[in-house]
Amino acid sequence: MERPTALTGIKPTGHPHLGNYIGAIKPALEMAKDNTSQGIYFIADYHALNSVQDRKKFKEYTYEIAAAWLSLGLDPEKVIFYRQSDVPEILELHWILSCLTPKGLMNRAHAYKAKVEENAAEGNDSDAGVNMGLFTYPILMAADILLFNSDKVPVGKDQVQHVEIARDIADNFNRTFGEAIKLPQYVIEEETAVIPGLDGRKMSKSYGNTIPLFAEEKALKKLVNKIVTDSTPPEEPKEVKGSSLFTLYKEFAAAPEAASMKEKYKQGIGWGQVKKEIFEVMNRELSEPRQKYYEYLDNKQEIDKILERGAEKARSIASLQLKKIKEMIGC
Ligand code: ADP
Ligand code: TRP
Repeated sequence: MERPTALTGIKPTGHPHLGNYIGAIKPALEMAKDNTSQGIYFIADYHALNSVQDRKKFKEYTYEIAAAWLSLGLDPEKVIFYRQSDVPEILELHWILSCLTPKGLMNRAHAYKAKVEENAAEGNDSDAGVNMGLFTYPILMAADILLFNSDKVPVGKDQVQHVEIARDIADNFNRTFGEAIKLPQYVIEEETAVIPGLDGRKMSKSYGNTIPLFAEEKALKKLVNKIVTDSTPPEEPKEVKGSSLFTLYKEFAAAPEAASMKEKYKQGIGWGQVKKEIFEVMNRELSEPRQKYYEYLDNKQEIDKILERGAEKARSIASLQLKKIKEMIGC
């Protein structure tokens, strides 16, 4: 029996931060470990193009995401790892799927809807600041997924709607031309916490509250010290539930360490001490990947080579599926 295919992508829209690692990279790598599925991982650079329109940044963020995956343990021999723009079959399928997608489905997609609502609140034209790439973003994502007949798509909660849209589009195709495309299933990790940023809100590039995943030791220490806390005195017992410091600690600590921290919260511990311990576990877990990350970034030809080889593997699968689909359409 063939192994099921699990596919996921990350768009290179900024420096990778701790939230991206815990919410997206770490669970995807875990999934690759058990070898029960064929992992397909890619850098969704064409998805980033609707917002990153600066050549230098576009290139740099792409390399950073690639270096992040590789330094955190992605094995390009075991999985298929490529840059989206190196697989032109995706764009061909994107057009075909566009013709099978009702416009109304895109009107309901959350990224576009949020922008329209924001425009309404500010009294702007409803489509101000919306390019067609943003509007049809879910169709490109459907092409990414459906071209590889993906079974599972591990994503964050914010991406569930997009996978559902991909299913709808696949179903439209199958009903129009006959069964050719598998309906994918999203996989979300309920367990994975929303990682809080420096100000306590969700860590996000859009809020400017991130801790870069590969910040150098000194900078990392400084940033951890900057996380906002309340003024509860050290000796007062504290709740781990809802504590953003504890959430961060737990993600990097071993289970007994987390249990012991929980105990310290009960007994009373100062926020300064908690931050010190957060820095220690984070630095312990991230120092080796950090070193590898900068080695990769100093050796971009190596990244290019890995991605090119991955694209060859991806295209050998993609071209067969595209051929089948085109034949069914009558091309
Ligand atoms: P950002 O909010 O910084 O723009 P993205 O939207 O590019 O991040 O997210 C990329 C991936 O990282 C998504 O799968 C998303 O669910 C995950 N992610 C981003 N921020 C966090 C966070 N604070 N906690 C958990 N996961 C996150
Ligand atoms: N849209 C996803 C995000 O913003 C990235 C992405 C693009 C993706 N294509 C995908 C994720 C296909 C899973 C499968 O995070």
